[in-house]
Amino acid sequence: MVRPMGTGGLRHEMSNVRCDNVTRLYAEGGGIRGFSCEIREGECFALLGPSGCGKTTTLRLVAGIESPDEGAIHFDGRDMAGVPPEQRSAAMVFQHYALFPHMNVFENVAFGLRAHKTPKSEIADRVREALELVQLEGLDKRPVTDLSGGQQQRVALARAIVIRPSILLLDEPLSNLDAELRRTTRVQLEELQRRLGITALYVTHDQEEALALADRVAVLKDGACHQIGTPEELLRAPATPFVETFLEPARRAWREP
Ligand SMILES: Nc1ncnc2c1ncn2[C@@H]1O[C@H](COP(=O)(O)OP(=O)(O)OP(=O)(O)O)[C@@H](O)[C@H]1O
Ligand SMILES: [Mg+2]
Repeated sequence: MVRPMGTGGLRHEMSNVRCDNVTRLYAEGGGIRGFSCEIREGECFALLGPSGCGKTTTLRLVAGIESPDEGAIHFDGRDMAGVPPEQRSAAMVFQHYALFPHMNVFENVAFGLRAHKTPKSEIADRVREALELVQLEGLDKRPVTDLSGGQQQRVALARAIVIRPSILLLDEPLSNLDAELRRTTRVQLEELQRRLGITALYVTHDQEEALALADRVAVLKDGACHQIGTPEELLRAPATPFVETFLEPARRAWREP
């Protein structure tokens, strides 16, 4: 798995993220309404809810790919209004990876560093380090189209962490993996997040995944946030009937360990 010793230059600055009453509504319907949360430094915070509830929209707002109609987003107390994505210290792993198919593994991971005009000599070292962290060392020359789904997922992760973001935005990063790989990758991801001490915003529709991974979880439905709490708080005292029903399988397992 991930090596126990040192993260070298990949140790990240931490950041907290605050969303105040953030709203982004699409003309056709859908979006997110009045979302507020405070994500602490180094915390893994999950957005959990069924398809179409506004998870990706919220992540895109934090990344700066999308702008709120109302409300504000702060990183470390700094208002992000008008700050473009590349000037935010956040990196996103997209729901469908969005790797560059015409580039090999190395070039995919190096992309953000080149965009930031990192010196050539440093690029090679940092890409190697990032690939080691996601256990893809030796595959740098491979076209990404020749990788398995799990390997592509890890290239996407390496591409995000190589730029040393303070905030890692993960959109259903395990959804394209089979059950076995999902479990092992989940553990690796958790180790990596803790070891890098990076603040993570993790989107999933999978209750078990959110409850296992996250320090705190926001449960969303139809663009509304129903509850924010630790996994135990959600299981012990669901705030609305929706949360109760949505978490019922996990609650049953929790009551009868
Ligand atoms: N760019 C857009 N233009 C119009 N409507 C959009 C846009 N992006 C999202 N929506 C709508 O907003 C709602 C929330 O979308 P979002 O992608 O945030 O959902 P999600 O929770 O990520 O769902 P999933 O689990 O399926 O990925 C959906 O009804 C969607 O159709
Ligand atoms: Mg989505």
